[in-house]
Amino acid sequence: MMIPHFSQVGIIGAGAMGRGIAQLAAQAGSSVLLFDTQPTASAAAQSAVFSQWDKLQDKGRLEPAQVASYKSRLGTVAALAQLAHCQLVIEAIVERLDAKADLFCQLEELLAPDAVLASNTSSLSITALGARLNRPQRLAGFHFFNPVPLMKVVEVIAGLKTDATVCDALSAFAKQMGHTPVRAQDTPGFIVNHAGRGYGTEALRLVSEGVADFATVDRILKDQIGFKLGPFELMDLTALDVSHPVMESVYHQYYEEPRYRPSVITAQRLAGGLLGKKVGQGFYCYQQGVAQISPEALAPMVDDLPPVWVSPRAARRAELLLLVKNLGARIETGASPSPQALSLVAPLGFDITTVAVVERLDPARTVGIDMLVDDATTRRRVLATNPATRLDMRQAAHALFARDGKPVSVIRDSGGFVTQRVVATIVNIASDICQQGICSPNDLETAVTLGLGYPSGPLALGNLLGPTNVLEVLFNMQTVYGDPRYRPSPWLRRRGAIGLSLLHVED
Ligand code: NAI
Repeated sequence: MMIPHFSQVGIIGAGAMGRGIAQLAAQAGSSVLLFDTQPTASAAAQSAVFSQWDKLQDKGRLEPAQVASYKSRLGTVAALAQLAHCQLVIEAIVERLDAKADLFCQLEELLAPDAVLASNTSSLSITALGARLNRPQRLAGFHFFNPVPLMKVVEVIAGLKTDATVCDALSAFAKQMGHTPVRAQDTPGFIVNHAGRGYGTEALRLVSEGVADFATVDRILKDQIGFKLGPFELMDLTALDVSHPVMESVYHQYYEEPRYRPSVITAQRLAGGLLGKKVGQGFYCYQQGVAQISPEALAPMVDDLPPVWVSPRAARRAELLLLVKNLGARIETGASPSPQALSLVAPLGFDITTVAVVERLDPARTVGIDMLVDDATTRRRVLATNPATRLDMRQAAHALFARDGKPVSVIRDSGGFVTQRVVATIVNIASDICQQGICSPNDLETAVTLGLGYPSGPLALGNLLGPTNVLEVLFNMQTVYGDPRYRPSPWLRRRGAIGLSLLHVED
C-alpha cells in the first residue's frame, strides 16, 4: 500500500470540486475529512463519492476490499477546528478573495506551522490570498479541473512567497492521486485558462467580423486541425455562465490586453440565457442533448472548368499545383493568367483583395485557398473570395476542390482565413506564456493537452505547421491591418524567424 505524501488531509467546500479532490486523496491513501458551512453539504458529498466507488466496484474496476478501505478514509466534520491535525488543507469554497483569505487566516491559527495550505482557485492570485498570513510560504495553488477524477492534470502554483518545497510536496501528492502536476507562476489564468484564450476568442472575432458563421468555423477547425470539438461546441458544453466570466477575468487582470478581449457575442448570449447545452440552447439548439446542425450546402456542379493559374507566391505552391493537377484542372504556366483563367492565390495572413491588388490580378477571377495545413492531412479545404469575385469563378473553384469528395467551405475574405488566425493566435499566446516564464514549454504542452483536450500542445501544433508560417501569418496580420492583437511574441519571433523548433529550444 502506497504511503501518501500527506496522511491527514482536510478539504473545505464539499461542492463539485471539493468532492472530486476528496475522492482522489482518499484513493491515494490519505485520511480525508470534508468540511462545509452548509450543514448537509459534506454528507451529501461523502455519499456521492461512496456511490461513485460502488459503481466502479459493480463494473469490476475496484475490488470490494479496496472500496471498503477508501470509504473508511473519507469522513466529514461539523467544525473547522476538527481539521487541526491535518498536514494539508485544500479549500474549494466560493470563488471570493475575502472568503478564501479569511479562511486561510483561521486555518493558520489552527494548524501546525509546517502544515500546507492549498487553494483550488481558478482565477484569484495566490500571492493575494496569502497576503494576510504570517506564513505565506506555506500556501500554494492546487488547481484541479472539472470533473476532477477525469481531468488528469493539476496546476501547482507558487505565490511570490511560496516555499519551493511546498510545491514539490503538492506535485508528489498529485502524482499519488494519479494526476499529472504542472508548475505555474502566479499569473492570471495560470496556464490552462490563459492558454485557452486563443481558441474561443479568435473564433468569436471571426464570427463577429462576418467571415463565417459559427457552425462553419467549428467544421473548419475540427476538420483542418483535428480539434475534438469546435470552439462554439466547446463553449456550449462549458456553458457561457462559466466561460464568459473567465474571458473577462483574464482580460481585466492583464489590464485590458487586446489579445484577450472578450466578445460582445458571448456577453449578449449570457445576458439572454442562451448558456449552452445544459439549458438546451446555446450556439446550437439541443434536442435530447443532441445538437441540431443544419447540413452543409452541396458543392455546385460545373461542367466546363476554366484553366487554372497558380500565383508564384502561393504558400505550399508545389503541393497546390500537384493538387490542382490531380483534381483534373488544366494548368496555365504563363507568368500571368490568361483572360479566361481562374487565378488561385494562397496567402499567409493577407486577405485575397490585397493579394489581387499587389499581384495585379483581376479580382473578379481571383480566389484564395488556405494552404497553411498540408492538403494530405486536412479533411477540409477552405476557400475565400473577395468582394469582386464573379459567381462563375467562385463556383468553378468550389467544384474543382470538391472533385475528390473532400468537403469545401467558402468563406468571406479576411486576412488569415479561419485556421490561420485561430492557430496563429493559439501559438502566439502559448509563446508569450513561455516568454513570461509562467511555466516550462513541456508543462505548457501537458497542461493544454490534458486540460483543454487539444489534439496536441500549442507549441507542437506550431511546429507541425511551421514556425516560419505561423510567424508570417502574424506578421502580415499585424502590419497590413495594424492590429496589435497579432503582434508576435518575442519568444515566437526569435524562433520563427530562423525556423527553429518551438519545443526544447531554450535561450
Ligand atoms: P460549488 O458551489 O459546487 O461548491 C462550493 C462549496 O463551498 C459549497 O458547498 C458551499 O457551501 C461551500 N462553501 C462556501 N463558502 C464556504 C466557507 N467559507 N467555508 C466552507 N464551505 C464553504 O463550487 P465549485 O464549483 O466546487 O468550486 C469551488 C472552487 O473551485 C472555486 O474556487 C472555483 O473557482 C474552483 N474551481 C471550480 C471549477 C469548476 O469547474 N466548477 C474548476 C476549477 C476550479
